[in-house]
Amino acid sequence: MHELDHYIYPHRVLHWLVAGGVLLALASGFTFGTLGYARTLELFGNTLTNLLYTSHKTLGITLLLLMTLRIITRLAFVVPDHDPPLNAFERIVSTSVHHLLYLALIIMPLLGWAATATGGYPIEFFHWHLPGLIDERPALSSQLYVWHGRVGWAIVVLAALHVAGALFHWRIKHDTVTKRMSLFD
Ligand code: HEM
Ligand code: HEM
Repeated sequence: MHELDHYIYPHRVLHWLVAGGVLLALASGFTFGTLGYARTLELFGNTLTNLLYTSHKTLGITLLLLMTLRIITRLAFVVPDHDPPLNAFERIVSTSVHHLLYLALIIMPLLGWAATATGGYPIEFFHWHLPGLIDERPALSSQLYVWHGRVGWAIVVLAALHVAGALFHWRIKHDTVTKRMSLFD
């Protein structure tokens, strides 16, 4: 059935918005995560450093909202069958990577939020300051930032596996897998 070649259109739009947003969040996060606040300030100056942190937090919270919508569009609508069907290995690996990506992309913004709030820093979302919801606890904050970094690396590995899988289906197997998420086919 032709209409079942693809995920529903809003789900495909969400896939590509999240993919682009995650790349930007990883790039900005690893930039100031690696440099540290003092060195970032020295290199980029006050205005740009503040803008980097504010945009990272805003983007992270936006990704949390987009992922929530995405879980709804994933659960509420029919997922197309694979035609031709995937073999058992492909099915197990791709489903595991997809589920782990969903999990990591929900945990990541929550960790960022909790680390920021327990560090006593503002939860900035565009020009608003959202409530921190958790009391200031600096020791816990450092631990949560460490986990924010670790889950960040896990997302890098999962996304690399995922893109390698997509390239394999598109360029080597020449099957219909990439079409399922395409905005244009
Ligand atoms: C999917 C969403 C997010 C992604 C992919 C992401 C990614 C990252 C990465 C990779 C780092 C560098 C970690 C390190 O090298 O140790 C980082 C740092 C940081 N993130 Fe996020 N983040 C997200 C959401 C958030 C949110 C929602 C907030 C706060 C509301 C936040 C606040 C921060 C802060 C303050 C740092 C700097 C930590 C430091 O200076 O050590 N992040 N983020
Ligand atoms: C160039 C980059 C990317 C390409 C070509 C791509 C391609 C695809 C394709 C073809 C599918 C459908 C697979 C199927 O249903 O069997 C898919 C699904 C999926 N993609 Fe990507 N993707 C990319 C980037 C990303 C990124 C960066 C993320 C998350 C960080 C991501 C998360 C997912 C998830 C979770 C699914 C499972 C289907 C669902 O949304 O429920 N993708 N992708």
